[in-house]
Amino acid sequence: MSSAETLAPPAGAAASRRTAAARSPYDVEAVRRDFPILSRRVHGKPLVYLDNAATTQKPVPVLDAERDVYERIYANIHRGVHLLSVESTDAYDAVRGKVRALVNAPDAREIIFLRGTTEAVNLVAQTYGRRNVGPGDEVLITALEHHSNIVPWQMLCEEKGATLRVAPINQKGEVPLDTFRALVTDRTKIAAVAHVSNALGTVNPIREMADITHARGIPLLVDGAQAVPRLPVDVQELGCDFYAFSGHKVYGPSGTGVLWGRAALLEAMPPWQGGGDMISSVTFEKTTWNVLPYKFEAGTPNIAGVIALGAAIDYVTSLGLDRIEAHEDDLLAYATECVQSIPDVRLIGTAAKKAAVLSFTIEGVHPHDIGTVLDREGIAVRTGHHCAQPVMDFFRVPATARASFGLYNTRQEVDVLAGGIRQVIRMFR
Ligand code: ALA
Repeated sequence: MSSAETLAPPAGAAASRRTAAARSPYDVEAVRRDFPILSRRVHGKPLVYLDNAATTQKPVPVLDAERDVYERIYANIHRGVHLLSVESTDAYDAVRGKVRALVNAPDAREIIFLRGTTEAVNLVAQTYGRRNVGPGDEVLITALEHHSNIVPWQMLCEEKGATLRVAPINQKGEVPLDTFRALVTDRTKIAAVAHVSNALGTVNPIREMADITHARGIPLLVDGAQAVPRLPVDVQELGCDFYAFSGHKVYGPSGTGVLWGRAALLEAMPPWQGGGDMISSVTFEKTTWNVLPYKFEAGTPNIAGVIALGAAIDYVTSLGLDRIEAHEDDLLAYATECVQSIPDVRLIGTAAKKAAVLSFTIEGVHPHDIGTVLDREGIAVRTGHHCAQPVMDFFRVPATARASFGLYNTRQEVDVLAGGIRQVIRMFR
């Protein structure tokens, strides 16, 4: 592998990230031109892509970066002394520095590349969890989690004879801190919460939750899949212990993702998958593990994907996460006003602190019919349970329609959505 300098924090990156708020709003029309897919038509209508919580579209620099790897430098990493391998290795490991700066992690050794958020949560459940959770212990999550932050813990609890505790939500879709606090006991061994709910848009008070779990010495894992694309994230300010996110939701390639964890915790955890690259030495009698982060990266990874994720991070960082957040907050406020004024529409998720996710139902119309009619208008929204069935059960709905905004959406597209919803109502009522 190439040396420590590829893992060194780039000077000034965090500082430039924080100055973004001082800049003026970006030119969204210019930004849209960076995303070729946004100019296509769907059923003869201009595409209005409002399914950004499921996955985001890719700008030209990301497309170019992936193509450039295969055209110019592609080889396997951490294995060869030949030039292509060295160049691919350097480009791949340099992305750790970009991720470190993006989430303000203390050390690039703490950045582990995986397939996505789901794999990151499973890794922690299967390593930290299996080592530290035993019979009679508890794992704490919240009632607004995505299945990927429920099922890995359920599997762990079942294996270990432990109990999964669930901090409830209120009718707005918020997690009240007093009930969260009451569920943290001496039996709790780890807590795992979403930063932003994919189904409701609720932004959880992570700092306060971390303070609560830390008061009893319990680590907090945060599912940041919906937060990293739309808010400035600073793991040191949040005070959490593990933070996971997916590349494809932050305008990068699918099949890429990140787990950040505190070095001391990661060092103490056993590896998860065995194979190439994660070892220091192998004999048939005994194998020893590689250092961080390679201990958790068995096998050939998504080399070109990770390098293109670096281009995606450069893209959002140059726009500024503060400005992206402000842009999406404006869209959410405008969309909330437009959609809630339409009779028979019910918003699901009305937390005081929300990110750009608008879930709704229409009285007497199945969400799948909403999605089908909107699709004929060129509007892409997600309909279904959003991999959060307990949230649907809580609100007593089988499914919702969900519009989720990205950095390239516009108020004009919100108007098209509102017009589409009115059309749905005209057709079905
Ligand atoms: N987790 C993604 C969503 O919320 C797939 O749609």
